[in-house]
Amino acid sequence: MNILAVAGGTGLAGSAVVREALARGFSVRSLSRRLPQPSTALDGVDYAVADAATGEGLAAALDGAEILIDALEDRRLRAQKLFPEAGRRLLAAAHGSGVRRAVMLSIAQCDELDFGYYRSKVAKEKLYDAAPMPSAVVRAAQFHPLLAQIFAAGHPLRIVPSVRRARLAPIDVRDVARALLDAAVEEGDGHALRTVSGPETRPVRDFAEEWKDIVGSRARIVGLPAPGGVGRYLSQGRNLAPESAFGTITFAQWLKESKSASPDLP
Ligand SMILES: NC(=O)c1ccc[n+]([C@@H]2O[C@H](COP(=O)([O-])OP(=O)(O)OC[C@H]3O[C@@H](n4cnc5c(N)ncnc54)[C@H](OP(=O)(O)O)[C@@H]3O)[C@@H](O)[C@H]2O)c1
Repeated sequence: MNILAVAGGTGLAGSAVVREALARGFSVRSLSRRLPQPSTALDGVDYAVADAATGEGLAAALDGAEILIDALEDRRLRAQKLFPEAGRRLLAAAHGSGVRRAVMLSIAQCDELDFGYYRSKVAKEKLYDAAPMPSAVVRAAQFHPLLAQIFAAGHPLRIVPSVRRARLAPIDVRDVARALLDAAVEEGDGHALRTVSGPETRPVRDFAEEWKDIVGSRARIVGLPAPGGVGRYLSQGRNLAPESAFGTITFAQWLKESKSASPDLP
């Protein structure tokens, strides 16, 4: 039995990882605090309930697993503080269950910005670096839906918010899932760190224009300044990882697919 466990397997990235693992022939177990809705549950996946923040259910959810891919996320402030602790519990339970390789999904260039959310990622990465089994961290650039959410957020004001002097290299979660599975099946003892970005690095405004065309919005693009440290991080391009292009699915491709799946996108 070759079980691959996906922590957060019901989430955006996690469910892409589950699909990719199924396509590669793994028996897949997903763990999350809640079971998926029947309409979104994937055939052939063993969905387990566990809470990485408290440790409840983790041992049972990881029983027999050989590989762990950690795609956990909880953006609430309290959860961010617990994020590294949840990673520690998860790794300890994985070690106890005999997991032989653990891979964490993190954020591209998260160590370049002093910001609480990013600090929690860096703290958790350190745990994976020191994990008792071979491990890897895959840092991904922003996912396409995040960009689309930002553009759509201005809809009530009939504007499309953009960020001045910022470039992004957004990536599709299916490409992220490929990178995570590649890292999961790699041989080798120590710890590996890889950053993956999308196929295009462009000013945010270019993506905003593409978004307007594809969703058919007539709102005005407004370039907003990013404040303080975040502004400097973006304008200096420290959010971009050189030589990390990996994804093949562009923002426009993803958006056209999503638009045909839900034509009411603003
Ligand atoms: N969004 C981006 O642009 C982006 C870019 C690069 C990297 N990332 C990274 O990608 C990772 C995944 O993000 P995502 O957007 O896919 O997240 P998401 O859609 O919010 O999914 C989070 C998953 O974690 C589960 N979860 C949360 N807390 C849990 C807990 N205590 N115990 C067990 N399961 C728990 C959730 O299920 P329940 O709520 O049912 O527990 C869900 O399955 C994050 O680490 C994020 O930093 C995101």
